[in-house]
Amino acid sequence: MIKKWTSIGLLAVLVICVAATIDLNNLVDYEAQAVPNYIQRDNSAANFPSNEKSVLGRILFYDKKLSLNNTIACASCHQQQFAFSDTAHTSVGFDGGLTDRHSMRLVNARFGQNERFFWDERAATLEDQTTEPIQNAVEMGFSGQNGQPDLDSLIRKMYTISYYPTLFEFVYGDTIITEQRIQTAISSFIRNLHSFDSKFDVGLAQAPNLNAPFPNYTADENAGKNLFLQPPGQGGAGCQACHRAPEFDIDPNIQNNGVIAVANDPNAVDLTNFRAPTLRDCFNPQGILNGPLMHNGNFQTMLGVIQHYNSIEDVNPQLDQHLKGPNNTGQNLGLTNAQMLQIVAFLKTLSGNQMYTNPDYSNPFDANGNIVVIPSTAGLGEVWLNQMNFYPNPFVNQITFELATHQAQLDVFDLAGKRIHSALVGKKGTIATATWKSGAYLVRIQDTKTKMVYQTKIIKP
Ligand code: HEC
Ligand code: HEC
Repeated sequence: MIKKWTSIGLLAVLVICVAATIDLNNLVDYEAQAVPNYIQRDNSAANFPSNEKSVLGRILFYDKKLSLNNTIACASCHQQQFAFSDTAHTSVGFDGGLTDRHSMRLVNARFGQNERFFWDERAATLEDQTTEPIQNAVEMGFSGQNGQPDLDSLIRKMYTISYYPTLFEFVYGDTIITEQRIQTAISSFIRNLHSFDSKFDVGLAQAPNLNAPFPNYTADENAGKNLFLQPPGQGGAGCQACHRAPEFDIDPNIQNNGVIAVANDPNAVDLTNFRAPTLRDCFNPQGILNGPLMHNGNFQTMLGVIQHYNSIEDVNPQLDQHLKGPNNTGQNLGLTNAQMLQIVAFLKTLSGNQMYTNPDYSNPFDANGNIVVIPSTAGLGEVWLNQMNFYPNPFVNQITFELATHQAQLDVFDLAGKRIHSALVGKKGTIATATWKSGAYLVRIQDTKTKMVYQTKIIKP
Protein backbone atom coordinates (compact mmCIF):
# COMPACT_ATOMS: atom_id res chain seq x y z
CA MET A 1 0.00 0.00 0.00
CA ILE A 2 2.63 2.48 1.06
CA LYS A 3 4.63 1.79 -2.12
CA LYS A 4 1.63 2.79 -4.21
CA TRP A 5 1.23 6.11 -2.42
CA THR A 6 4.90 6.82 -2.92
CA SER A 7 4.47 6.63 -6.66
CA ILE A 8 1.46 8.93 -6.50
CA GLY A 9 3.71 11.39 -4.65
CA LEU A 10 6.36 11.11 -7.34
CA LEU A 11 3.80 11.73 -10.03
CA ALA A 12 2.68 14.92 -8.30
CA VAL A 13 6.29 16.07 -8.16
CA LEU A 14 6.67 15.52 -11.91
CA VAL A 15 3.49 17.42 -12.69
CA ILE A 16 4.67 20.58 -10.94
CA CYS A 17 8.12 20.38 -12.58
CA VAL A 18 7.49 23.35 -14.86
CA ALA A 19 9.66 26.45 -15.30
CA ALA A 20 10.89 28.18 -12.15
CA THR A 21 11.22 24.85 -10.37
CA ILE A 22 14.55 23.59 -9.09
CA ASP A 23 14.46 19.92 -8.13
CA LEU A 24 17.30 19.04 -5.81
CA ASN A 25 16.78 15.37 -6.72
CA ASN A 26 17.65 16.11 -10.34
CA LEU A 27 20.57 18.53 -10.47
CA VAL A 28 22.08 20.13 -13.55
CA ASP A 29 25.31 18.25 -14.24
CA TYR A 30 27.74 21.17 -14.53
CA GLU A 31 30.60 18.86 -13.57
CA ALA A 32 30.08 16.88 -16.79
CA GLN A 33 30.88 19.89 -19.00
CA ALA A 34 33.80 18.98 -21.24
CA VAL A 35 36.96 21.07 -21.02
CA PRO A 36 39.39 20.75 -23.95
CA ASN A 37 42.69 19.13 -23.00
CA TYR A 38 44.67 22.18 -24.18
CA ILE A 39 43.09 24.24 -21.39
CA GLN A 40 45.57 23.95 -18.54
CA ARG A 41 45.03 27.03 -16.39
CA ASP A 42 42.49 26.54 -13.62
CA ASN A 43 41.95 28.57 -10.43
CA SER A 44 39.34 26.32 -8.79
CA ALA A 45 41.67 24.19 -6.63
CA ALA A 46 40.44 25.59 -3.32
CA ASN A 47 36.73 25.40 -4.20
CA PHE A 48 35.76 22.65 -6.61
CA PRO A 49 32.65 23.91 -8.47
CA SER A 50 30.34 21.02 -7.62
CA ASN A 51 26.81 20.60 -8.94
CA GLU A 52 25.46 21.09 -5.41
CA LYS A 53 27.21 24.41 -4.80
CA SER A 54 26.36 25.57 -8.31
CA VAL A 55 22.61 25.00 -8.00
CA LEU A 56 22.62 27.32 -4.97
CA GLY A 57 25.06 29.71 -6.66
CA ARG A 58 22.80 30.05 -9.69
CA ILE A 59 19.81 30.99 -7.51
CA LEU A 60 21.89 33.52 -5.56
CA PHE A 61 23.27 34.97 -8.81
CA TYR A 62 19.79 35.60 -10.21
CA ASP A 63 18.00 36.58 -6.98
CA LYS A 64 16.99 40.24 -6.82
CA LYS A 65 16.21 39.77 -3.12
CA LEU A 66 19.97 40.01 -2.53
CA SER A 67 19.70 43.76 -3.14
CA LEU A 68 18.39 46.20 -0.57
CA ASN A 69 15.15 47.01 -2.44
CA ASN A 70 14.73 43.68 -4.28
CA THR A 71 15.37 45.25 -7.70
CA ILE A 72 18.90 44.17 -8.70
CA ALA A 73 20.62 40.81 -8.99
CA CYS A 74 24.16 39.99 -10.08
CA ALA A 75 22.54 39.06 -13.38
CA SER A 76 21.21 42.60 -13.87
CA CYS A 77 24.74 43.79 -14.72
CA HIS A 78 26.02 40.39 -15.89
CA GLN A 79 23.47 39.34 -18.52
CA GLN A 80 23.72 36.00 -20.29
CA GLN A 81 22.80 37.54 -23.66
CA PHE A 82 25.95 39.70 -23.41
CA ALA A 83 28.29 36.94 -22.17
CA PHE A 84 27.40 37.93 -18.60
CA SER A 85 28.31 41.58 -18.99
CA ASP A 86 26.36 44.76 -19.66
CA THR A 87 26.10 46.91 -22.77
CA ALA A 88 25.86 50.06 -20.64
CA HIS A 89 28.99 52.24 -20.37
CA THR A 90 28.68 51.91 -16.58
CA SER A 91 25.89 49.94 -14.92
CA VAL A 92 22.92 51.11 -12.87
CA GLY A 93 22.77 49.97 -9.24
CA PHE A 94 19.78 49.23 -6.99
CA ASP A 95 19.06 52.89 -6.26
CA GLY A 96 19.81 54.38 -9.68
CA GLY A 97 23.48 55.15 -9.00
CA LEU A 98 26.20 54.30 -11.53
CA THR A 99 29.09 51.88 -11.02
CA ASP A 100 32.63 53.32 -11.12
CA ARG A 101 33.73 51.03 -13.95
CA HIS A 102 32.32 49.08 -16.86
CA SER A 103 30.90 45.61 -16.04
CA MET A 104 33.09 42.57 -16.88
CA ARG A 105 32.19 39.46 -18.88
CA LEU A 106 32.04 36.34 -16.69
CA VAL A 107 33.39 33.88 -19.25
CA ASN A 108 35.75 31.02 -18.33
CA ALA A 109 36.59 32.82 -15.07
CA ARG A 110 37.81 29.45 -13.80
CA PHE A 111 40.32 28.99 -16.60
CA GLY A 112 42.90 31.63 -15.84
CA GLN A 113 46.04 31.79 -13.79
CA ASN A 114 45.24 35.12 -12.17
CA GLU A 115 43.58 34.45 -8.80
CA ARG A 116 42.69 38.11 -8.37
CA PHE A 117 39.47 39.62 -9.74
CA PHE A 118 38.11 43.05 -10.80
CA TRP A 119 39.85 45.35 -13.29
CA ASP A 120 42.16 46.59 -10.52
CA GLU A 121 42.59 43.10 -9.01
CA ARG A 122 41.39 44.29 -5.60
CA ALA A 123 39.68 40.97 -4.80
CA ALA A 124 42.24 38.34 -3.76
CA THR A 125 40.06 35.47 -5.05
CA LEU A 126 36.83 34.95 -6.95
CA GLU A 127 35.29 33.91 -3.63
CA ASP A 128 36.18 37.26 -2.06
CA GLN A 129 34.85 39.06 -5.11
CA THR A 130 31.35 37.56 -5.00
CA THR A 131 30.07 39.30 -1.87
CA GLU A 132 31.62 42.68 -2.70
CA PRO A 133 28.80 43.76 -5.06
CA ILE A 134 26.24 42.87 -2.35
CA GLN A 135 28.13 45.12 0.08
CA ASN A 136 28.67 47.89 -2.45
CA ALA A 137 26.67 51.03 -1.58
CA VAL A 138 25.77 51.65 -5.25
CA GLU A 139 25.38 48.11 -6.61
CA MET A 140 23.24 46.10 -4.16
CA GLY A 141 23.23 48.25 -1.02
CA PHE A 142 24.14 46.11 2.00
CA SER A 143 27.22 48.24 2.74
CA GLY A 144 26.66 48.80 6.46
CA GLN A 145 27.54 52.44 5.87
CA ASN A 146 25.63 55.74 5.72
CA GLY A 147 22.47 54.18 7.09
CA GLN A 148 22.54 51.11 4.83
CA PRO A 149 22.17 47.73 6.59
CA ASP A 150 25.12 45.32 6.49
CA LEU A 151 25.63 41.81 5.20
CA ASP A 152 24.40 40.24 8.48
CA SER A 153 21.12 41.97 7.88
CA LEU A 154 20.90 40.36 4.43
CA ILE A 155 21.66 36.98 5.98
CA ARG A 156 18.81 37.49 8.49
CA LYS A 157 16.57 38.35 5.52
CA MET A 158 17.67 35.18 3.71
CA TYR A 159 16.56 32.98 6.64
CA THR A 160 13.02 34.25 6.02
CA ILE A 161 13.10 33.39 2.29
CA SER A 162 11.63 29.90 2.17
CA TYR A 163 14.09 28.29 -0.25
CA TYR A 164 17.38 29.39 1.29
CA PRO A 165 17.37 27.23 4.43
CA THR A 166 16.42 24.25 2.24
CA LEU A 167 19.24 25.00 -0.19
CA PHE A 168 21.94 25.70 2.39
CA GLU A 169 21.06 22.52 4.24
CA PHE A 170 21.22 20.58 0.98
CA VAL A 171 24.65 21.97 0.06
CA TYR A 172 26.33 22.38 3.45
CA GLY A 173 24.53 19.89 5.70
CA ASP A 174 22.73 22.42 7.89
CA THR A 175 20.63 25.54 7.38
CA ILE A 176 23.25 28.02 8.62
CA ILE A 177 23.91 30.87 6.17
CA THR A 178 27.33 32.53 6.25
CA GLU A 179 29.22 34.89 3.97
CA GLN A 180 31.71 32.16 3.18
CA ARG A 181 28.96 29.74 2.12
CA ILE A 182 27.43 32.41 -0.12
CA GLN A 183 30.87 32.97 -1.65
CA THR A 184 31.72 29.34 -2.38
CA ALA A 185 28.29 28.82 -3.97
CA ILE A 186 28.25 31.90 -6.24
CA SER A 187 31.84 31.39 -7.37
CA SER A 188 31.07 27.76 -8.20
CA PHE A 189 28.25 28.83 -10.50
CA ILE A 190 30.44 31.48 -12.14
CA ARG A 191 33.26 28.98 -12.68
CA ASN A 192 30.77 26.74 -14.50
CA LEU A 193 30.08 29.36 -17.20
CA HIS A 194 32.15 27.76 -19.95
CA SER A 195 32.89 28.87 -23.51
CA PHE A 196 34.79 26.31 -25.57
CA ASP A 197 32.66 25.98 -28.70
CA SER A 198 34.21 28.79 -30.75
CA LYS A 199 35.64 28.67 -34.25
CA PHE A 200 39.04 29.02 -32.54
CA ASP A 201 38.46 25.80 -30.56
CA VAL A 202 37.38 23.92 -33.67
CA GLY A 203 40.49 25.17 -35.50
CA LEU A 204 42.91 24.38 -32.70
CA ALA A 205 41.58 20.82 -32.50
CA GLN A 206 42.25 20.40 -36.24
CA ALA A 207 45.67 22.07 -36.43
CA PRO A 208 48.97 20.52 -35.27
CA ASN A 209 49.55 23.43 -32.90
CA LEU A 210 48.51 26.98 -32.02
CA ASN A 211 50.97 28.61 -34.43
CA ALA A 212 50.06 26.52 -37.48
CA PRO A 213 47.39 27.91 -39.83
CA PHE A 214 43.91 26.72 -38.82
CA PRO A 215 42.17 24.87 -41.68
CA ASN A 216 38.75 26.32 -40.77
CA TYR A 217 40.00 29.95 -40.81
CA THR A 218 39.91 32.49 -43.62
CA ALA A 219 43.25 33.94 -44.75
CA ASP A 220 42.51 37.13 -42.80
CA GLU A 221 41.67 35.21 -39.63
CA ASN A 222 44.93 33.24 -39.85
CA ALA A 223 46.88 36.44 -40.50
CA GLY A 224 45.17 38.07 -37.52
CA LYS A 225 46.05 35.05 -35.37
CA ASN A 226 49.72 35.41 -36.33
CA LEU A 227 49.72 39.10 -35.53
CA PHE A 228 48.10 38.38 -32.15
CA LEU A 229 50.62 35.66 -31.25
CA GLN A 230 53.91 37.08 -32.51
CA PRO A 231 55.91 39.67 -30.54
CA PRO A 232 56.44 43.14 -32.02
CA GLY A 233 60.13 42.33 -32.77
CA GLN A 234 58.92 39.64 -35.16
CA GLY A 235 56.34 41.73 -36.97
CA GLY A 236 53.49 40.84 -34.63
CA ALA A 237 51.30 42.95 -32.34
CA GLY A 238 52.42 41.21 -29.13
CA CYS A 239 48.94 40.63 -27.66
CA GLN A 240 49.83 37.08 -26.59
CA ALA A 241 52.33 38.40 -24.00
CA CYS A 242 49.42 39.51 -21.82
CA HIS A 243 46.22 37.82 -23.17
CA ARG A 244 47.50 34.26 -23.39
CA ALA A 245 45.97 31.83 -25.90
CA PRO A 246 44.39 29.30 -25.70
CA GLU A 247 42.72 30.54 -22.49
CA PHE A 248 43.19 34.20 -23.47
CA ASP A 249 43.49 34.88 -19.74
CA ILE A 250 45.46 37.86 -18.48
CA ASP A 251 49.04 37.42 -17.25
CA PRO A 252 48.88 38.08 -13.49
CA ASN A 253 52.21 39.92 -13.47
CA ILE A 254 51.58 42.79 -15.83
CA GLN A 255 50.76 46.45 -15.23
CA ASN A 256 48.46 48.79 -17.10
CA ASN A 257 47.92 49.05 -20.85
CA GLY A 258 47.80 52.84 -21.15
CA VAL A 259 44.00 53.10 -20.85
CA ILE A 260 43.89 55.37 -17.83
CA ALA A 261 40.85 57.65 -18.13
CA VAL A 262 38.15 57.22 -15.47
CA ALA A 263 34.69 56.22 -16.74
CA ASN A 264 32.51 58.86 -15.12
CA ASP A 265 35.17 61.54 -14.54
CA PRO A 266 37.08 62.61 -17.67
CA ASN A 267 39.52 64.72 -15.64
CA ALA A 268 40.72 61.89 -13.37
CA VAL A 269 43.27 59.16 -14.13
CA ASP A 270 43.35 55.59 -12.85
CA LEU A 271 46.63 53.66 -13.25
CA THR A 272 45.50 50.59 -11.28
CA ASN A 273 43.80 48.42 -13.92
CA PHE A 274 46.00 45.38 -14.50
CA ARG A 275 43.34 42.77 -15.27
CA ALA A 276 41.00 41.98 -18.15
CA PRO A 277 38.53 39.11 -18.48
CA THR A 278 39.38 36.50 -21.10
CA LEU A 279 39.27 37.95 -24.63
CA ARG A 280 36.85 35.16 -25.56
CA ASP A 281 33.31 36.41 -26.27
CA CYS A 282 34.13 40.11 -26.61
CA PHE A 283 31.76 39.68 -29.57
CA ASN A 284 28.48 37.77 -29.62
CA PRO A 285 28.00 34.98 -32.23
CA GLN A 286 26.61 37.57 -34.68
CA GLY A 287 29.86 39.55 -34.48
CA ILE A 288 28.43 42.40 -32.39
CA LEU A 289 30.37 43.58 -29.34
CA ASN A 290 28.91 42.51 -25.99
CA GLY A 291 29.22 46.09 -24.78
CA PRO A 292 32.00 48.67 -24.86
CA LEU A 293 35.55 47.64 -23.98
CA MET A 294 38.08 48.36 -21.21
CA HIS A 295 37.55 49.31 -17.55
CA ASN A 296 36.15 52.69 -18.55
CA GLY A 297 33.99 51.36 -21.39
CA ASN A 298 35.44 54.14 -23.56
CA PHE A 299 36.10 51.91 -26.60
CA GLN A 300 33.02 51.38 -28.77
CA THR A 301 34.82 49.29 -31.42
CA MET A 302 37.50 46.62 -31.44
CA LEU A 303 39.34 48.52 -34.16
CA GLY A 304 39.60 51.42 -31.72
CA VAL A 305 41.26 49.09 -29.19
CA ILE A 306 43.84 47.90 -31.76
CA GLN A 307 44.52 51.50 -32.80
CA HIS A 308 45.25 52.27 -29.15
CA TYR A 309 47.85 49.47 -28.98
CA ASN A 310 49.26 50.37 -32.39
CA SER A 311 50.48 53.70 -31.15
CA ILE A 312 50.77 54.39 -27.43
CA GLU A 313 51.82 57.98 -26.96
CA ASP A 314 51.28 58.61 -23.27
CA VAL A 315 53.82 56.76 -21.05
CA ASN A 316 52.39 56.66 -17.52
CA PRO A 317 54.51 55.43 -14.57
CA GLN A 318 52.63 52.09 -14.44
CA LEU A 319 52.59 51.39 -18.20
CA ASP A 320 53.64 47.77 -18.67
CA GLN A 321 57.13 47.11 -20.10
CA HIS A 322 55.66 45.07 -22.97
CA LEU A 323 54.03 48.21 -24.33
CA LYS A 324 57.16 50.34 -24.41
CA GLY A 325 59.33 51.05 -27.41
CA PRO A 326 62.96 52.21 -27.37
CA ASN A 327 64.09 54.96 -24.91
CA ASN A 328 61.06 54.55 -22.64
CA THR A 329 58.61 55.72 -25.31
CA GLY A 330 55.25 54.08 -25.87
CA GLN A 331 55.23 51.31 -28.48
CA ASN A 332 54.54 52.07 -32.11
CA LEU A 333 53.64 48.83 -33.87
CA GLY A 334 53.27 50.37 -37.32
CA LEU A 335 50.35 48.10 -38.22
CA THR A 336 48.46 48.86 -41.43
CA ASN A 337 44.72 49.32 -41.30
CA ALA A 338 44.33 45.97 -43.08
CA GLN A 339 46.43 44.25 -40.42
CA MET A 340 44.39 45.84 -37.64
CA LEU A 341 41.20 44.55 -39.30
CA GLN A 342 42.79 41.08 -39.50
CA ILE A 343 43.28 41.11 -35.71
CA VAL A 344 39.63 42.12 -35.33
CA ALA A 345 38.61 39.23 -37.62
CA PHE A 346 40.67 36.84 -35.49
CA LEU A 347 39.14 38.10 -32.21
CA LYS A 348 35.67 37.46 -33.67
CA THR A 349 36.54 33.75 -33.92
CA LEU A 350 36.84 33.55 -30.12
CA SER A 351 33.07 33.52 -29.52
CA GLY A 352 31.00 30.41 -28.99
CA ASN A 353 27.23 29.94 -28.96
CA GLN A 354 26.37 27.96 -25.88
CA MET A 355 27.41 30.78 -23.53
CA TYR A 356 24.33 32.65 -24.73
CA THR A 357 21.91 29.75 -25.11
CA ASN A 358 22.73 27.19 -22.42
CA PRO A 359 19.55 26.91 -20.28
CA ASP A 360 21.63 25.73 -17.31
CA TYR A 361 23.21 29.20 -17.16
CA SER A 362 19.87 31.00 -17.35
CA ASN A 363 17.52 32.67 -14.88
CA PRO A 364 15.79 29.99 -12.74
CA PHE A 365 13.12 32.44 -11.44
CA ASP A 366 9.78 33.09 -13.14
CA ALA A 367 8.75 36.56 -14.34
CA ASN A 368 7.44 37.44 -10.88
CA GLY A 369 10.69 36.50 -9.20
CA ASN A 370 9.29 33.26 -7.75
CA ILE A 371 10.91 29.86 -7.61
CA VAL A 372 9.96 26.49 -6.17
CA VAL A 373 12.76 24.39 -4.75
CA ILE A 374 11.87 20.71 -4.35
CA PRO A 375 13.89 19.37 -1.42
CA SER A 376 16.17 16.41 -1.79
CA THR A 377 14.98 13.10 -0.44
CA ALA A 378 18.49 11.64 -0.65
CA GLY A 379 19.95 10.49 2.62
CA LEU A 380 16.53 9.78 4.08
CA GLY A 381 16.89 6.26 2.75
CA GLU A 382 14.21 3.62 2.78
CA VAL A 383 13.69 3.77 6.53
CA TRP A 384 11.19 6.55 6.64
CA LEU A 385 9.20 5.13 3.76
CA ASN A 386 8.65 2.05 5.88
CA GLN A 387 7.76 4.14 8.91
CA MET A 388 5.57 6.86 7.44
CA ASN A 389 4.17 8.23 4.26
CA PHE A 390 2.77 11.66 3.42
CA TYR A 391 0.60 12.30 0.42
CA PRO A 392 0.06 14.14 -1.74
CA ASN A 393 3.56 15.62 -1.55
CA PRO A 394 3.69 18.39 -2.75
CA PHE A 395 0.41 19.28 -1.04
CA VAL A 396 -1.93 22.24 -1.06
CA ASN A 397 -4.85 22.42 1.38
CA GLN A 398 -4.26 19.25 3.34
CA ILE A 399 -1.83 16.40 3.63
CA THR A 400 -2.60 12.85 4.73
CA PHE A 401 -0.18 10.73 6.73
CA GLU A 402 0.05 7.04 7.40
CA LEU A 403 2.40 5.67 10.02
CA ALA A 404 3.72 2.18 10.63
CA THR A 405 3.15 2.64 14.38
CA HIS A 406 -0.12 2.97 16.29
CA GLN A 407 0.83 6.11 18.18
CA ALA A 408 3.44 8.84 17.69
CA GLN A 409 4.27 12.46 18.44
CA LEU A 410 4.14 14.37 15.15
CA ASP A 411 5.79 17.79 14.77
CA VAL A 412 6.13 19.97 11.68
CA PHE A 413 8.80 22.67 11.47
CA ASP A 414 9.33 25.33 8.87
CA LEU A 415 12.88 25.64 7.59
CA ALA A 416 13.65 28.50 9.93
CA GLY A 417 13.18 25.89 12.67
CA LYS A 418 9.83 27.18 13.95
CA ARG A 419 7.34 24.50 15.04
CA ILE A 420 4.09 25.13 13.19
CA HIS A 421 2.15 21.96 14.00
CA SER A 422 2.30 19.50 16.89
CA ALA A 423 -0.02 16.60 17.79
CA LEU A 424 -0.17 13.13 19.28
CA VAL A 425 -1.44 11.03 16.39
CA GLY A 426 -2.64 7.56 15.51
CA LYS A 427 -1.93 5.36 12.53
CA LYS A 428 -3.59 7.59 9.93
CA GLY A 429 -4.86 11.17 9.73
CA THR A 430 -4.83 14.46 7.89
CA ILE A 431 -3.33 17.86 8.63
CA ALA A 432 -5.07 21.03 7.42
CA THR A 433 -2.49 23.11 5.57
CA ALA A 434 -4.53 25.76 3.71
CA THR A 435 -3.04 28.59 5.78
CA TRP A 436 0.57 27.43 5.46
CA LYS A 437 2.95 29.53 3.40
CA SER A 438 4.49 27.87 0.37
CA GLY A 439 7.84 26.28 1.02
CA ALA A 440 9.44 23.16 2.40
CA TYR A 441 8.67 21.73 5.84
CA LEU A 442 10.38 19.20 8.02
CA VAL A 443 8.13 16.54 9.58
CA ARG A 444 9.41 14.64 12.60
CA ILE A 445 7.61 11.72 14.21
CA GLN A 446 8.59 9.97 17.38
CA ASP A 447 7.18 6.49 17.92
CA THR A 448 5.59 6.54 21.42
CA LYS A 449 6.56 2.95 22.11
CA THR A 450 10.09 2.62 20.66
CA LYS A 451 11.04 6.37 21.04
CA MET A 452 12.61 6.13 17.56
CA VAL A 453 12.59 9.41 15.60
CA TYR A 454 12.00 9.62 11.86
CA GLN A 455 11.87 12.68 9.68
CA THR A 456 11.13 13.73 6.16
CA LYS A 457 10.41 16.82 4.10
CA ILE A 458 7.11 17.85 2.62
CA ILE A 459 6.56 20.75 0.28
CA LYS A 460 3.83 23.23 -0.46
CA PRO A 461 4.48 24.79 -3.95
C1 HEC B 1 25.23 47.29 -10.58
C2 HEC B 1 25.98 46.43 -11.48
C3 HEC B 1 26.62 45.19 -10.92
C4 HEC B 1 26.05 44.25 -10.08
C5 HEC B 1 24.68 44.26 -9.43
C6 HEC B 1 27.03 43.21 -9.94
N1 HEC B 1 28.13 43.50 -10.67
FE1 HEC B 1 29.77 42.33 -10.92
N2 HEC B 1 30.73 43.82 -11.83
C7 HEC B 1 30.19 45.04 -12.13
C8 HEC B 1 31.24 45.96 -12.50
C9 HEC B 1 31.05 47.42 -12.89
C10 HEC B 1 32.45 45.25 -12.42
C11 HEC B 1 33.86 45.81 -12.58
C12 HEC B 1 34.13 46.59 -11.29
C13 HEC B 1 35.56 46.93 -11.01
O1 HEC B 1 36.47 46.27 -11.52
O2 HEC B 1 35.79 47.87 -10.23
C14 HEC B 1 32.09 43.89 -12.01
C15 HEC B 1 33.00 42.85 -11.85
C16 HEC B 1 32.65 41.57 -11.47
C17 HEC B 1 33.54 40.44 -11.44
C18 HEC B 1 35.03 40.42 -11.80
C19 HEC B 1 35.29 39.66 -13.08
C20 HEC B 1 36.76 39.55 -13.38
O3 HEC B 1 37.08 38.88 -14.35
O4 HEC B 1 37.60 40.10 -12.65
C21 HEC B 1 32.82 39.37 -11.00
C22 HEC B 1 33.30 37.95 -10.81
C23 HEC B 1 31.49 39.85 -10.73
N3 HEC B 1 31.41 41.19 -11.04
C24 HEC B 1 30.48 39.08 -10.19
C25 HEC B 1 29.32 39.64 -9.64
C26 HEC B 1 28.46 38.94 -8.72
C27 HEC B 1 28.66 37.53 -8.21
C28 HEC B 1 27.45 39.79 -8.42
C29 HEC B 1 26.30 39.57 -7.48
C30 HEC B 1 26.60 39.18 -6.11
C31 HEC B 1 27.69 41.01 -9.16
N4 HEC B 1 28.84 40.88 -9.87
C32 HEC B 1 26.84 42.10 -9.15
C33 HEC B 1 28.84 45.37 -12.07
C34 HEC B 1 27.93 44.71 -11.26
C1 HEC C 1 51.00 44.67 -21.38
C2 HEC C 1 49.94 43.73 -21.46
C3 HEC C 1 48.96 43.85 -22.60
C4 HEC C 1 49.20 43.73 -23.96
C5 HEC C 1 50.50 43.49 -24.63
C6 HEC C 1 47.92 43.84 -24.59
N1 HEC C 1 46.95 44.02 -23.66
FE1 HEC C 1 45.00 44.15 -24.01
N2 HEC C 1 44.64 44.54 -22.04
C7 HEC C 1 45.61 44.57 -21.06
C8 HEC C 1 45.01 45.03 -19.83
C9 HEC C 1 45.72 45.20 -18.50
C10 HEC C 1 43.66 45.28 -20.12
C11 HEC C 1 42.58 45.83 -19.19
C12 HEC C 1 42.88 47.29 -19.09
C13 HEC C 1 41.80 48.27 -18.80
O1 HEC C 1 40.63 48.05 -19.06
O2 HEC C 1 42.20 49.32 -18.33
C14 HEC C 1 43.48 44.96 -21.52
C15 HEC C 1 42.26 45.06 -22.19
C16 HEC C 1 42.05 44.63 -23.48
C17 HEC C 1 40.77 44.55 -24.12
C18 HEC C 1 39.44 44.91 -23.47
C19 HEC C 1 38.83 43.71 -22.83
C20 HEC C 1 37.47 43.97 -22.27
O3 HEC C 1 36.89 43.02 -21.74
O4 HEC C 1 36.96 45.10 -22.32
C21 HEC C 1 40.98 44.07 -25.37
C22 HEC C 1 39.90 43.78 -26.40
C23 HEC C 1 42.39 43.89 -25.53
N3 HEC C 1 43.01 44.24 -24.37
C24 HEC C 1 42.96 43.43 -26.68
C25 HEC C 1 44.35 43.42 -26.89
C26 HEC C 1 44.97 43.18 -28.15
C27 HEC C 1 44.23 42.87 -29.42
C28 HEC C 1 46.30 43.30 -27.95
C29 HEC C 1 47.39 43.24 -28.98
C30 HEC C 1 47.29 44.25 -30.00
C31 HEC C 1 46.51 43.58 -26.55
N4 HEC C 1 45.30 43.67 -25.93
C32 HEC C 1 47.72 43.75 -25.94
C33 HEC C 1 46.92 44.24 -21.22
C34 HEC C 1 47.55 44.05 -22.43
